[in-house]
Amino acid sequence: MEHGEYRNPRKKRRTRCLAMTVCAFLVLVTVIAVSLGLTLSNGADKFKSTFIAKCEGFKEKSKRNDCQKIWSVFEQAYVGRDPCKVPMEAYDSLIATTAFDPACNRMMFWSKTKDVVHDFTEKRDCFVTLEDTLLGSVLDGLTWCGKEGSSETFTTGCPGWSDCDDNPVRSFWNRVSSAFAGSACGDVTAMLNGSIATPFSPTSIFASIEVKRFNSTTMKSLNVVLVTQDNAVTNCTNASLKDLQKELDQGIKYNCKEVTESKIQACGSHPETPCGACW
Ligand SMILES: *[C@@H]1O[C@H](CO)[C@@H](O)[C@H](O)[C@H]1NC(C)=O
Ligand SMILES: *[C@@H]1O[C@H](CO)[C@@H](O)[C@H](O)[C@H]1NC(C)=O
Ligand SMILES: *[C@@H]1O[C@H](CO)[C@@H](O)[C@H](O)[C@H]1NC(C)=O
Ligand SMILES: *[C@@H]1O[C@H](CO)[C@@H](O)[C@H](O)[C@H]1NC(C)=O
Repeated sequence: MEHGEYRNPRKKRRTRCLAMTVCAFLVLVTVIAVSLGLTLSNGADKFKSTFIAKCEGFKEKSKRNDCQKIWSVFEQAYVGRDPCKVPMEAYDSLIATTAFDPACNRMMFWSKTKDVVHDFTEKRDCFVTLEDTLLGSVLDGLTWCGKEGSSETFTTGCPGWSDCDDNPVRSFWNRVSSAFAGSACGDVTAMLNGSIATPFSPTSIFASIEVKRFNSTTMKSLNVVLVTQDNAVTNCTNASLKDLQKELDQGIKYNCKEVTESKIQACGSHPETPCGACW
C-alpha cells in the first residue's frame, strides 16, 4: 500500500500525460487525414466538374449531348485500373457514345504546329481540329488516371506521356485521333512544321495513327500546308513528305504547299475571306 500510495500519483500523472500525448497525436492524425481526404476528393470532384462544365458549355451542341452519361462512360475507361494498363480500346465505348459531327472539307490535322493552328482556328471558324470537337475540347490540357482498387479519378501522380505506352491520357488521344481521322471526308488539310528537319515524323500521332486511318472512300485529298519561318529548314521536297504521300490510301490526292507563318497569321485576321482560299 505504501508503495502504491507513493507511486500512484506519479503513475497517474504519467498516464494522464501519456493519454494527452496520444490524444493530441490522434487529433493531429485526424486533422491531417481529413484535410488530405478533402484535398484528394476536391481534386477528383474538380476534375469531374471541369469535365461536365466544359462538356455542357460546348457550343449549343450540348443539347444533344448528355454530359453526365458521357462522363460515366469516360471514367469507366480508366477508373480502378493500373494507370499503365489502359489501352486505346478502353475508350471504344466513349467514342461510340459521342459521334463526331461530320465536317467535310473543313477538317484540319496538325503535327508540331499546335499553337499556330489553334490561333488560326480560333479566329477563323472555318476549320475543325480535333480540339474543336466535344471530346477534344473537354480533355485538351487535362491529366487524369485511376488506381487499382479505387473508384476515384486522380489528377496528380499519373504517368507522364512517355512513362508507359498504355497510360490513360495517351491512349485517349490515340483513340480519339484515330476516330477523328477515320471520319475525315472531302478535302482535308494538315499543317506541318517546316522549321524542323522531319515534318512528317514517324513517331507523331499524325503519322502513326491518323494518316493510317485516312480512307479514300470518303476522303478526296490531303493538302499539306508546310508552315515555314524566315529560316525554313525543310520544304515540300523533303523525303519524309514523300513517305507521307506513299502511305496515303490509294485514291487520295496529295498536295503540299509551303506557307510562311506570317501569311497564316495574316489569313487569320481576315475573317471575311472564304475558308482556305487565303494561302
Ligand atoms: C515548329 O517547330 C519549332 C521548333 O520546335 C517551333 O519553334 C515553331 O514554333 C514551330 N512552328 C509552328 C508553326 O508551330
Ligand atoms: C476504308 O473503308 C472501307 C469501307 O468502310 C474499308 O473496307 C477499308 O478497309 C478502309 N480502308 C482503310 C485504308 O482504312
Ligand atoms: C528544297 O530543299 C532542298 C534541300 O533540302 C534544296 O536542295 C531545294 O532546292 C529546295 N527546293 C526548293 C523548291 O526550295
Ligand atoms: C527530310 O526528311 C528526312 C527523313 O525522311 C530527314 O532525315 C532529313 O533530315 C530531312 N531533310 C532536311 C533537309 O531537313
